[in-house]
Amino acid sequence: MKYGYFDDQHREYVITNPRTPVKWINYVGTLGFGGFVDHTGGLLLCKGDPALNRITKYIPQLPGSQFKGQTLYLRKREGSAYKVFSPLFVPTLDAYDRFECRVGLGYSTFVSEFYGVRTTLTIFVPTGESVLVQRVSVTNIGQAPVELDAVPLLEYTHFDALKQFTNADWVPQTMQSEAHDAEGGRKILAQYAFMNRDQRQTYFTANVPVSSYETCRRSFLGDNEYGTFQSPKSLQEPELKNHLALRGDNVAALMIHLGTLAPGETKEFVTLLTQQEGTRTQSLALARKVFDRYTKSEAISTSLAAMRKDWDDYLGRVQVQTPDASMNSMLNVHNPRQCYMTKNWSRDLSLYQLGFGGRGMGFRDSSQDVMGVMAAMPEEARGLIEKLLSVMKSNGSAMHQFYASTMVANEGDAREMEDRPKYYGDDHLWIVFAVCAYLKESGDLAFLDKTLPYYEKDKQGAPAHRGTVFDHLKRAVEFTKTNVGSHGLPLLGFADWNDTVNLKTGAESLFVANQYGKALLDLIELCEHRGETELAQRYRADYEHMRGLVNEYAWDGDWYVRYFDHDGAPIGSKKNAQGQIWTNGQSWPVISGFAPPERAKAALESVHRLLNTPNGIKLSSPGYDGYDPAKGGVTTYPPGAKENGGIFLHANPWVMIAETLIGNGDRAFEYYNQINPAAKNDVIDTYECEPYVYAQNILGNEHPLFGLARNSWLSGTASWTYQAGVKHILGIMPAYAGLEINPCIPKAWDGFSVQRRFRGAEYAITVKNPEHVSKGVRSVTVDGKAIEGNVVPDFSDGKPHTVEVVMG
Ligand code: GLC
Repeated sequence: MKYGYFDDQHREYVITNPRTPVKWINYVGTLGFGGFVDHTGGLLLCKGDPALNRITKYIPQLPGSQFKGQTLYLRKREGSAYKVFSPLFVPTLDAYDRFECRVGLGYSTFVSEFYGVRTTLTIFVPTGESVLVQRVSVTNIGQAPVELDAVPLLEYTHFDALKQFTNADWVPQTMQSEAHDAEGGRKILAQYAFMNRDQRQTYFTANVPVSSYETCRRSFLGDNEYGTFQSPKSLQEPELKNHLALRGDNVAALMIHLGTLAPGETKEFVTLLTQQEGTRTQSLALARKVFDRYTKSEAISTSLAAMRKDWDDYLGRVQVQTPDASMNSMLNVHNPRQCYMTKNWSRDLSLYQLGFGGRGMGFRDSSQDVMGVMAAMPEEARGLIEKLLSVMKSNGSAMHQFYASTMVANEGDAREMEDRPKYYGDDHLWIVFAVCAYLKESGDLAFLDKTLPYYEKDKQGAPAHRGTVFDHLKRAVEFTKTNVGSHGLPLLGFADWNDTVNLKTGAESLFVANQYGKALLDLIELCEHRGETELAQRYRADYEHMRGLVNEYAWDGDWYVRYFDHDGAPIGSKKNAQGQIWTNGQSWPVISGFAPPERAKAALESVHRLLNTPNGIKLSSPGYDGYDPAKGGVTTYPPGAKENGGIFLHANPWVMIAETLIGNGDRAFEYYNQINPAAKNDVIDTYECEPYVYAQNILGNEHPLFGLARNSWLSGTASWTYQAGVKHILGIMPAYAGLEINPCIPKAWDGFSVQRRFRGAEYAITVKNPEHVSKGVRSVTVDGKAIEGNVVPDFSDGKPHTVEVVMG
């Protein structure tokens, strides 16, 4: 069963069957004002922190058929009764003649046909605005005139998202509604919690006259709420009850009489939802201003066009043309869009990560996310990097998570275990990669000299220590160098990248050892570029030292060990009954360059033999079969799920990258392709999640539901798969001196092309592969002249340049 198709020309995925296995969502707006809309119109909307200022009540755990946050009802007059249906399918579930949810860039458009009525609804948040716009047009596609009414409905939540579910006395007592008249017979419905009466209020309106309204859920559903969202009693009455809910469950519904539509006739209207600050008078005035702007159809078209242009700019920095259509779809539209959303939303709000305030921005997560938007928006990436650097501690470690609005940080789950270290072994090292990626993209070496705070505060609450950006990076590697265990390998801390393996204090992490190696390589390259040869030499010595230890202690015969526990016993070894081999234990020694060629090859072969499946590479094998507090959260999952032997997608691109480093383009692409959601259409009933974004995890082959994906959208998979695709497989990699070109592709490819904007210049790159190799660049011609080597100069001249590359 297929649920839709890619419309690459419009940069949309079109869902044509609303009964998808789980909801498929799209993001509108930003963390400033926005949220997600699902493919049947359900809406989770927030302004600022989703835990502290949530607007609509979206309960993902309810069945797919249920009303969630909002819908639109239409009703057709049939004699003295009404045929009520939702053009969004949910919650009335009528049989449709046509259904489309067009998942676009920053908007979703629904096109449906029920009972001879075509409805088109576009939902979006204009860039930089705090208003949700829904433009609706309704056409009579039948043979006879029809009399139609439209009733948009929203359900509010208490602004304190968690309280809504933990207190059913205080919350309902506080919920308040108001109705205000607006010009031309329009109405503005207001909603707020009592304590916010003079702080901020939410307003909902339509740009057409309304004859009645409803703000009380009980009264809207009718019969003491034995009326349902599927068939609300109030919609069988000619008018809504104009009821002002001064407690309870607040909704906003407007009765819009569209009148009688002749065959072929179309009626349009717009609904608008905003939240404004101030006293009720002040905020209402602000809301009226915003509403005035967007009641006009031209303003909506203009802002949709402006949004399209922003996406053109964002996506236009990198466009590829490869022989693989699914790869093109992902690299040109969907993957960079997902990178943008992860950079924006971190792990805060999705269908799976519910934004109740536990997380904020993750230090490691955002440090990796930022690399996914580096090519497209280096300046914005730098903004986030500066925030991250400011929550590093002066000892070089990092606070695990922080709230971007307050910059208050904490140690994450490490706080929950008294006897464990309060830092994560990996966090601080990610920022080295992010800063170096920024420097290479932008050429802005001066950034290294910028002074930024460390997280510790003095008595006045001001930063107690400061240092340059470069100083932050130096301290990061120094922290790892000086926090080592009994083998001299880096201590795990509370955990490394794998959050769920929490070993007793004293455990060592091979992941961190290799990550440290890669960070040193990046710093050595940077120091050499800056002419700091002495420091480069010192880092080189540190690198060799760690390389020696990793190879002396961690080689297990056919692969590398993943951890040593506090007793020095290996985890990820043939000696273990479970958790014998770990993917990250093999990819990272190749990425760090620690693995000598024959070990690199053997380790990656072991991954292919023992961990690969047709749905992706598992994180480890075999899974732990039973809860073991000594290992931590990893054993809370059944074997094959998540970090316990599941296909944890974030780790897959690291294997792709490792394969390109040893020149194995066929395998790198096989790994790329097997997790490409755009290639999942045929197995979608097993896979279940959106085909247009990466999921975080897929159940592995030890699990009976092998192949089932979950936790789509907010995952480091987005950034790394994008990097693996563009920088490592296609090999278009920013370097200090220019744009390095070093592809590692399937031998069968004849070539590919890439359009890349880099430091202001436009590079039209054509790669030819006449000898059908995977790797190796024979010649590079820039603007018709052959150059030495494979680094295309940094022109920084705002002009177009052609680059012809011949592999061989
Ligand atoms: C989740 C976390 C991430 C962690 C990963 C593996 O994706 O967001 O920080 O690295 O799980 O445990």
